[in-house]
Amino acid sequence: MRRAALECPSLENSMAKSTRYKPKSKNKAQESIRTLISREKIQRRIAEMAQEIRRDFPTEALHLVGVLKGSVFFLTDLARQMSGDISLDFIAVSSYGNRTETSGEVKLTRDLDSSIEGKTVIVVEDILDTGMTLQYLLRVFEQRKPRRIRVAVLLDKPERRLAKVRADYVGFTIPNEFVVGYGLDYAERYRNLCDVGVLSLGKKGKR
Ligand code: IMP
Ligand code: MG
Repeated sequence: MRRAALECPSLENSMAKSTRYKPKSKNKAQESIRTLISREKIQRRIAEMAQEIRRDFPTEALHLVGVLKGSVFFLTDLARQMSGDISLDFIAVSSYGNRTETSGEVKLTRDLDSSIEGKTVIVVEDILDTGMTLQYLLRVFEQRKPRRIRVAVLLDKPERRLAKVRADYVGFTIPNEFVVGYGLDYAERYRNLCDVGVLSLGKKGKR
């Protein structure tokens, strides 16, 4: 029996729903999102990325490490497109400072459940922006003696890069705009959108 496809709210529906709650803040009511990458494009690219990774490691067990919370949807979709032996783990970090002026300080807030020693690790991130988070994580992971580490990111914003890091697998390279959806948030909202869109905060907002 064919299973029904996952119902996913569109950006428009989601915005309509959120305005129905009449947000207390005027700024919130002025927020709008313009679709940048559709759900179909995202899913097609993730299937390709899964194949690219498997092509590079045809027989190896791969340990996918997702960086919470932004990578959850990307990681689960990527993992389900991959053949062979796959295991999952998660890590969480927080960065100090606001998003426009990063202090470059990153703190580990949740560690992995299991050791990565001797494993082929694929770090799965939602977006590579300044690169400070990834630089920190790679330093932490390398001390733990994995067999090798590769990095897969859904989005890459190269214009904002400060740290000398790069991803081995990139879904989409995007311009220097603040994006939400498919795991990416603004003040913890919009992660559940199925498309990636550019957030505009309206006249009074900063972006
Ligand atoms: P980095 O350390 O500057 O590379 O930042 C990485 C983290 O910042 C990502 O994992 C996201 O959580 C967050 N981030 C960077 N750019 C955006 C964006 O455009 N929208 C939402 N979150 C972002
Ligand atoms: Mg993140």
